[in-house]
Amino acid sequence: MSNYHIKHLEEYYQVYRKSIREPENFWEEIAGEHFLWRKKWDNVLSWDFKKPEVKWFEGAKLNITENCLDRHLATRGDKTAIIFEPNNPNEPAEHITYWQLYKRVNKFANVLKSQGIEKGDRVCIYLPMIPELAVAVLACARIGAIHSVVFAGFSSTALATRINDSNCKMVVTSDGSYRGAKTIDLKGIVDEALEQCDSVKTVLVAKRINSEISMKSGRDYWLQPLLDEASDEGKAEVMNAEDPLFILYTSGSTGKPKGMVHTTGGYMVYSAYTFKNAFQYRDGDVYWCTADIGWITGHSYIVYGPLANGATTVMFEGVPSYPDFGRFWEIIQKHKVTQFYTAPTAIRALAKHGAELIESFDLSSLKVLGSVGEPINEEAWHWYNDNVGKRKSPIVDTWWQTETGGIMITPIPYVTPTKPTYATLPFIGIQPALMDEKGEELKGNQVEGRLCIKFPWPGMARTIWGNHDRYRDTYFSAYEDKYFTGDGALRDEVGYYRITGRVDDVIIVSGHNLGTAPIEDAINEHPAVAESAIVGFPHDVKGNALYGYITLKDEGESRDQNNLRKEINHLISERIGPIAKLDKIQFTTGLPKTRSGKIMRRILRKIAEKNTDSLGDTSTLLNPDCVQEIIDNAL
Ligand code: PRX
Repeated sequence: MSNYHIKHLEEYYQVYRKSIREPENFWEEIAGEHFLWRKKWDNVLSWDFKKPEVKWFEGAKLNITENCLDRHLATRGDKTAIIFEPNNPNEPAEHITYWQLYKRVNKFANVLKSQGIEKGDRVCIYLPMIPELAVAVLACARIGAIHSVVFAGFSSTALATRINDSNCKMVVTSDGSYRGAKTIDLKGIVDEALEQCDSVKTVLVAKRINSEISMKSGRDYWLQPLLDEASDEGKAEVMNAEDPLFILYTSGSTGKPKGMVHTTGGYMVYSAYTFKNAFQYRDGDVYWCTADIGWITGHSYIVYGPLANGATTVMFEGVPSYPDFGRFWEIIQKHKVTQFYTAPTAIRALAKHGAELIESFDLSSLKVLGSVGEPINEEAWHWYNDNVGKRKSPIVDTWWQTETGGIMITPIPYVTPTKPTYATLPFIGIQPALMDEKGEELKGNQVEGRLCIKFPWPGMARTIWGNHDRYRDTYFSAYEDKYFTGDGALRDEVGYYRITGRVDDVIIVSGHNLGTAPIEDAINEHPAVAESAIVGFPHDVKGNALYGYITLKDEGESRDQNNLRKEINHLISERIGPIAKLDKIQFTTGLPKTRSGKIMRRILRKIAEKNTDSLGDTSTLLNPDCVQEIIDNAL
């Protein structure tokens, strides 16, 4: 019998040791006993971090939707799979059973097929958090099409880049979306994006806000009439374990976004096994993750992980502040949520509006609280623990990445003693390593270095779509035979990990990964701008906010600076999305550079953090004089 559900600390250590000593036996048992395969594997694992190439369960055949849907029908067909909680609290919530979800997915899958989508085709999904989003994702998986969900807060340019990078044949979108009191014209954004995308032949449009939109004849189709006509039966395509399941874009420190490719068998096993344990999900629980399915958290822990375990998962369309900051608590009370998984930025925003708001709601159903996306600061951790969990619900601070597919370092609730700001212990099967500046692994405890992973795990991304060299260079070239995460971490005296943050030019703003290069590229498009550099600085709600240092061309010098600031932020919104807007913009006559011409962001970061005492020696710079000017005018 495999250890699918870890129940106490001794068991964790015992299973962890087994997963490290005999990884193949371990994962073979988990995969074999808890999932539905059309054919089992010929080989559990083959790997080479030099190439890099990783294959799990090679030779196995399956369809992930048979694991998320079909196999539950006999035992829990009438159980709620998804609770849809709309943006407007007065609109009734929708409870979708496993049977209903199964039928909706089949219908959608049949529509995809009738529109010419075949196994291996890429389908871009640009939808708000409505049931069609989960259904579209599963429908793609059902027929073996590769979904590429793009978060519906991205701009038309960002959407076009992602569609073109993977040559999507279809876009699934809606007439618009609700976001608190606002509506967003999603179809308009898609239309604009598609002016730059030749690969897209069909656009399916779900109706959500009933707005007037234009439909391009021969390309755009309303989804509902097609669904109405489609059969609710359908066989799942039989996939190889290593066939791509989806592409999900994430920012890199340079260049265009990276389309991380996740494959079918390993991702399924890993997302499901981590879900079960990191949240201690038990039958009857109601689990709610507040992320958007446009991010990896939503893929693994709203859709695939929960459904593969036959769980009830809440999908929330709205925002924490609408109609007021009590909305999250109201939803927890209403649906008797047992596991609640959110981001530190949301916790800080809620804390700012006071714990009093919580008092009028009954949160006694809660058993586990989760945190993800960025380091959780001590204050936010305690606020969450005291006011939301009432010191009874353990907080699982889960560290992981788009690239890792699932949770990598986390406490297991009621198993691992928690410690504020610590992600604590590696998950089963995960072998972290901390590296020093010379590239040597730091052994023992009480050390701090760069976080790597030494051994493959089933959920890891296999490549970057269309660019395997970049995959190797980004993740496998910094340290030999190790996956480099881009994060720094420390290991305390008992072996607990604390993630200290990114060590590259990725900045995490409100839990969203933003690369500095694409933002600088957007700014530099402004005709008045000569050059720019973006750094992060601490922000009490967002965790980090963006600070831009911008030098202007001569003709820009005479422009009104506040207007310029607005124009620059507008440009960033258009090119990337509102999440990448700068909080502070300082115009400077120069940017500090090394003699080889590289911008010294370290100095700019310190100035933005108002930490100018430790700038170090700036005399070796190409242009040391500009540093004082920047300090004098810092915002
Ligand atoms: O820096 C780490 C931070 O988020 C990065 C990954 O971002 P993304 O791919 O968008 O995935 C976010 C959701 C899984 C990591 O490299 N991060 C994520 N979770 C934590 C975290 N930093 C500290 N603590 C965490 N729990």
